[in-house]
Amino acid sequence: MSDERSLDTRAVHAGEGRAKAHDSLTTPVALTSTYTFESAEALGRHHRREVEREEYGRYGNPTVRAAERKLADLDGAEDAALFASGMAAITTTLLAMLRSGHHVVLTRDCYRRTRQFVTAVLPRYGVESTVVEPGDPDAVARAIVPGKTRLVISESPTNPYLRVVDLEALRAIKAAHPSVKFLIDATFSTPVNQRPIEHGVDLVIHSATKYLGGHNDLLAGSVSGSAALIDAIRDFRGVLGGVLDPHAAYLLLRGVKTLGLRVARQNASALSLARALESDPRIERVFYPGLESHPDHRVAVAQMSGFGGVVSFLVKGDGPRTERFVDACRIAAIAPSLGGVETLIEQPALMSYYEMSPDERLAVGIPDNLVRLAVGIESCDDLLDDLARALDAAFAA
Ligand SMILES: Cc1ncc(COP(=O)(O)O)c(C=O)c1O
Repeated sequence: MSDERSLDTRAVHAGEGRAKAHDSLTTPVALTSTYTFESAEALGRHHRREVEREEYGRYGNPTVRAAERKLADLDGAEDAALFASGMAAITTTLLAMLRSGHHVVLTRDCYRRTRQFVTAVLPRYGVESTVVEPGDPDAVARAIVPGKTRLVISESPTNPYLRVVDLEALRAIKAAHPSVKFLIDATFSTPVNQRPIEHGVDLVIHSATKYLGGHNDLLAGSVSGSAALIDAIRDFRGVLGGVLDPHAAYLLLRGVKTLGLRVARQNASALSLARALESDPRIERVFYPGLESHPDHRVAVAQMSGFGGVVSFLVKGDGPRTERFVDACRIAAIAPSLGGVETLIEQPALMSYYEMSPDERLAVGIPDNLVRLAVGIESCDDLLDDLARALDAAFAA
């Protein structure tokens, strides 16, 4: 088959090959923790890398390997490695890439645990960081310390304000700093909406727990990049041990096959919901890169083929009114996470940032009336009705 196959076709077939054990159509789940060698000679051939085969479960598994090949294909990368969660992918990748004395540039609006790892954990190991605004490529360039900065890390779109980083501007910065590697957490976009490697990015991370798995039933994380970088990161995974379970790898393979269908629906519904919310006088502000009012709309149009399934917005009024609105939603369930078939809703102030005081939250840009809606694949009309009814309930009280 040629490389011109569309992403939807590759999502179904890539990585899995035609011939499978027992003539099975789907990739079997290889439930084994170790692998046998028929002789000392066969073991030697494996160590000399004359054959491609597995050795021990912490170093690889054929079901996981098929999912890795599929994700590498969709990201347009030479290789990919899978992990037990998105955070295992992030922490293992960073620990593999960084040494004491290195410096990291991180964009501010990002998953709280990523920021915690970079700004609170890495300094214990002698790695310092500078945090800059995601919409400001000049700030990224200024933050690079020649000879010390090893990594520039950003999400795109970011969590929860959906800032879209200008990847072509990053490419220009990278050209001036060839020893710096650029890493994008593309969890919110998926390879359907944006492929950072095509813009010169070195490493792409996904929390595969979200859209790639797509059914809110597994935890997984991936990193894609050049064979050399992924080899080194996979070796580090063998040290840290955060491997993906083969059952979860099977669910991931199965989930990715419908990625294109799901994300197309989620893109379309999220745009309709964002527009409806923006025209509702009870909503103070909507953050969605598909809206002309979003600060990164121009970059998003140039760089993305869809704007994703997450919409963030401010309800007019205080935290308690926002709680009443969220509580009144019947389809959208109150839960962390995003990207699955079920629509989820959360107030970041009460979920990821619950242990901070309101002032501390405001300092990190999380007001109590902020809502994050992760759109699923239900009927868009039903979701519009659900939100309108929940707003009626919140404003009637
Ligand atoms: C953008 C982003 N990256 C990484 C993670 C961490 O992924 P996981 O929950 O699979 O560890 C999350 C989790 O919400 C996320 O939103």
